[in-house]
Amino acid sequence: MRVGIDFGLTNVDVVATHGADVGAIAQFATLPSQRQVDLAQVQRALDAIGRSMADCEQICVTGGQHRRLPDAIDGTPIVKVGEIEAIGLGGLRLAQRTQPDLREALVVSAGSGTAMIAVRDGCAQHVTGSAVGGGTLVGLCKLLIGTSDPQQIDALALAGDSNKVDITLIEATGGAIGRLPADANAVNFGRAATLEWRDVAREDMAAGVAVMVGQVIAVIAINAARAERLDHIVVIGHLVDLACVRKVLNTVGGYYGVDFTVPEMPGYATAIGALVAGAEQSTKKATPM
Ligand SMILES: Nc1ncnc2c1ncn2[C@@H]1O[C@H](COP(=O)(O)OP(=O)(O)OP(=O)(O)O)[C@@H](O)[C@H]1O
Ligand SMILES: [Mg+2]
Repeated sequence: MRVGIDFGLTNVDVVATHGADVGAIAQFATLPSQRQVDLAQVQRALDAIGRSMADCEQICVTGGQHRRLPDAIDGTPIVKVGEIEAIGLGGLRLAQRTQPDLREALVVSAGSGTAMIAVRDGCAQHVTGSAVGGGTLVGLCKLLIGTSDPQQIDALALAGDSNKVDITLIEATGGAIGRLPADANAVNFGRAATLEWRDVAREDMAAGVAVMVGQVIAVIAINAARAERLDHIVVIGHLVDLACVRKVLNTVGGYYGVDFTVPEMPGYATAIGALVAGAEQSTKKATPM
């Protein structure tokens, strides 16, 4: 069994495959991050999928402080994979399940923060990113509406109306601008700064935060993909487990004629990417020059 672990800021994701077939995920689990990365955390990740070190022929690790781990534990090799490579290769691999001909893409990791990676010819390169991400959604919702539970935030945001906190284009300019319809927003949370501001429902506040976070990610991604001349954008990370964020991506994508691909199991893409890159490292080592 081969195991991939992504030590994120919010979550630790672990996936396991039988043999070299990275496409077939046998087991997976997500557990809250305890931030430090050490042997105990590797053990904790294996416990979460009911496995022991003896079951593993290889453990591929990425994210956080993964480089602090030793090169082997009890004889099991620990393969260290840079997070940029893991995000790029994992995102592309997951997207290829439904788009087998996809060879290059901008992979957007929508995690606690946001990173955007160009992947082509098997190589991954950091393009840009944003400190606005899933941690921003949860953090602002905790401050504004007293909950940091992602599922609750999602349900509230889906039930709310972001235009109760935002100023719309029709209010700002009297109508549509370019590709943007009149009911698109002009100012996130702009209404809160006006004299007519009244307390709004928690649902509307959650929707406003989700729209702001989703828009920042979507707009940066669209511009980055254009600058990199990449036709496909793949979005991964647990932030896009949330329907309220996927909805914002679709809305912004609709404005600009862009389709965002959100593969199945998007939160596991980086851990899967660690497995993909780890398998490639092992093949290179095994092939004589
Ligand atoms: N059940 C959940 N538990 C925690 N976060 C969730 C959950 N569902 C959705 N999320 C969202 O996912 C975000 C974390 O995403 P993810 O786990 O992909 O990032 P990470 O790997 O921990 O962070 P990074 O890659 O930035 O180090 C949270 O900030 C939150 O907005
Ligand atoms: Mg992660």
